[in-house]
Amino acid sequence: MHPRHDKGNRQEAMPETAISTSRPRVVSGMRPTGKLHLGNYMGALVNWVKLQDQNRYECYFFIADWHALTTDYADPSRLKLNTLDVALDWLAAGLDPEKSTIFIQSHVPQHAELHLLFSMVTPLGWLEGVPTYKDQQENIRGKDLSTYGFLGYPLLQAADILIYQADYVPVGQDQVAHVELTREVARRFNSMYRSSVFPEPDALLTPSPKLPGTDGRKMSKSYGNTIGLTEDEVTVARKVAAMSTNGQRIRQSDSGEPDLCPVGDLHKIFSCQELLAEIDEGCRGALFPCSECKLKASLSILELTGPIIDRRRELEKDKSRVWDMLCEGSKRATARAEITMESTREFFGTSREFREVDLSRYSAGESKSGYLLTGNASFFPLSQVNRALKVRKVWIELVMNRGVSLSQIGNFGGFMPERELEEPFLTPSKKRVFISTQSYTGDDGIFTFRVPPRSYEVWVLLCWEKETLILQDFVIPQKYFSAQFSQVKRGQGKDERVQVSLREDGHRRMMDIGTAGSVDVTEQLSNYESLI
Ligand code: TRP
Repeated sequence: MHPRHDKGNRQEAMPETAISTSRPRVVSGMRPTGKLHLGNYMGALVNWVKLQDQNRYECYFFIADWHALTTDYADPSRLKLNTLDVALDWLAAGLDPEKSTIFIQSHVPQHAELHLLFSMVTPLGWLEGVPTYKDQQENIRGKDLSTYGFLGYPLLQAADILIYQADYVPVGQDQVAHVELTREVARRFNSMYRSSVFPEPDALLTPSPKLPGTDGRKMSKSYGNTIGLTEDEVTVARKVAAMSTNGQRIRQSDSGEPDLCPVGDLHKIFSCQELLAEIDEGCRGALFPCSECKLKASLSILELTGPIIDRRRELEKDKSRVWDMLCEGSKRATARAEITMESTREFFGTSREFREVDLSRYSAGESKSGYLLTGNASFFPLSQVNRALKVRKVWIELVMNRGVSLSQIGNFGGFMPERELEEPFLTPSKKRVFISTQSYTGDDGIFTFRVPPRSYEVWVLLCWEKETLILQDFVIPQKYFSAQFSQVKRGQGKDERVQVSLREDGHRRMMDIGTAGSVDVTEQLSNYESLI
């Protein structure tokens, strides 16, 4: 495991007041199919509780009620009750709302919004190719799963995970394909929009020993072979007593093979080492009847579930408190999910605010002067490239506007911001203009640009200070740089870029062009003459 929480622009996306910490994030969910059975508990929940109690992760656990609807839409009558039942079991088993954010998927509508946006960019074939899709369509009887919602099941899951920018997803083996799809969606989004909003999460496989149901097959609600996590003693004992022993020990004097018996498997999971040794010996040596072995297996199960049953009984006394806890958790989850949505919406042009940039002329003394770009906090969650594009757009549309309009050459459909950034513009008199932006990176007050090796009639260098939000715009005609530019190019390969820096020297503004020396560009600050 290698926590990647320092990767990407995650730090940038966090407002100071967020509930989030810098711990790596863990996200997982469960469909509300009613009270949990031992398979749910051993296959997922125990592991969640362990992760939570390590205090090393920021944990989000949710009840995936929308996912339940993808298969049970025809009869949603029990959905809410089932949701509450799952929450009761979670709390009884040790999930703690003080340590983890526990919530209901449908109470965080951002999951649906992200799912919708992802649906725009996800090829149909990716969803049709997920193994669980065809499998379940064929195997689940009595439900029509040829629906749009069911096809989208794994994409909704991707949204569930990515909306928290999760690092880890603790799940069983059957969910690995869904986590893999999640990674592909993250990769596609990031590369299509040149973003680093979505880290690719890893599945944390729950080491789940084979847990047999009462008929010896894998324990699963759809087989009707479950033992409930909080089922009472009599029921558990009765269910285990009725289990098949795989046709062994027909007579009590026959010796058995515990490794081939489902009840033997139960002992391996729930019994202590001592008892396990005793069972092994007793079964092989035909020292006691199967009924005794089964009774001991039920006692081992009940030893584990007893305290959980008690806690559930306590919690059931005030179900509305548990519901309130879910609502509280949902609020917290919503706040975190909204952070991701804010930056995601930027990429699709669906952000909420009109957000006219408030431009004020700024000047301090004789040295610094420029435009203050206030009201623009949303510049920050953007990737470097997108931020540069946006600053440039603001400059063209709002700052430069002196009755001059620049036309952009070419059209890259908005999907290739990096190339778009290198597209020159034309003035009305057909002069070629190259515009680049750079935010302040060092602490030396120097803005460094790397520009492509071809000449333009005008260079516009937008120096944008991230901390102060001051934008200084230098509009530089060719005569200021052509000699130095050719000199630099002579000394380097064809495709090399030229490094141009802008710095202050007293009250003068200097432009350094590679190693070819400096040019005084003081007069070019906000001087749009050469664009007319
Ligand atoms: N599909 C998961 C299951 O059936 C439930 C789920 C929904 C989930 N969204 C999720 C699991 C996000 C992990 C992360 O078990």
